[in-house]
Amino acid sequence: MIELKNISYAYPNQSQALSDVSLRVEQGEAIALIGANGSGKSTLMKLINGLILADSGEYLFHGTAINAKKLKDKKFARQFHKKVGFIFQNPDTQLFCSSVHDEIAFGLNQMGMAESEVRQRVEDTMELLQISELSDREPYHLSGGEKKRVAIAAAVALNPDVYVFDEPMNNLDPKTKRFLRQFMIRLNQSGKTIICSTHDFAYVDGIFQQAAVFSASHRLIRVDDYEKVMRDKDFLVEQNII
Ligand SMILES: Nc1ncnc2c1ncn2[C@@H]1O[C@H](COP(=O)(O)OP(=O)(O)O)[C@@H](O)[C@H]1O
Ligand SMILES: [Mg+2]
Repeated sequence: MIELKNISYAYPNQSQALSDVSLRVEQGEAIALIGANGSGKSTLMKLINGLILADSGEYLFHGTAINAKKLKDKKFARQFHKKVGFIFQNPDTQLFCSSVHDEIAFGLNQMGMAESEVRQRVEDTMELLQISELSDREPYHLSGGEKKRVAIAAAVALNPDVYVFDEPMNNLDPKTKRFLRQFMIRLNQSGKTIICSTHDFAYVDGIFQQAAVFSASHRLIRVDDYEKVMRDKDFLVEQNII
């Protein structure tokens, strides 16, 4: 489904963020991106979502090259962004509407969905994320955990094929972490592909099949069975991951 071939990327200020990264993600797979701070996890996820483009290398989504020309094609870009949902690390950068309801409805309205269908879809999604009682609240004034649920709901409403989570467990209370873990497992069981950066290993147990490990020099040094990587304590210590 996702194929990255020899991807390199440096930010405009010259700081290198990805060096010759190659990775395949199959449909329905749940893969963890792990690596020390600054190793390139968030950058790779931005690239997978089409928010940035590689300096060199190739990104194929279902066999189609994702590049500047392709993303300028409005029809293609809309389809692509509907298929790949991104849940940012900090929900404040994602939430901008004046009510939770509007926040979840935003993407559906953008797609031109009929009003009654939007209303139904928003209600169903709020129920799924257990935030129905927050419907009229202002996202800005919610707690961190509530904001995270709203950000996830906004993605879920669009029913993407791929969910990209950037450090989803950060700053959540234990109850919300447990809820999110179950939710991610259910998403994956329903056939959704999950790509997720994390270092909160205690709370993500049982979610992932694969792990992709970044080195401090922004290279992907190991793609392997998740449990096998987790058992390899020497390796994880060496890579400054635990
Ligand atoms: N917006 C940015 N501008 C310049 N450099 C950045 C920016 N975001 C990240 N970087 C740099 O790119 C590298 C990779 O960062 P990032 O992808 O955020 O790593 P991770 O998510 O693994 O912590 C780091 O050296 C970081 O300092
Ligand atoms: Mg990051």
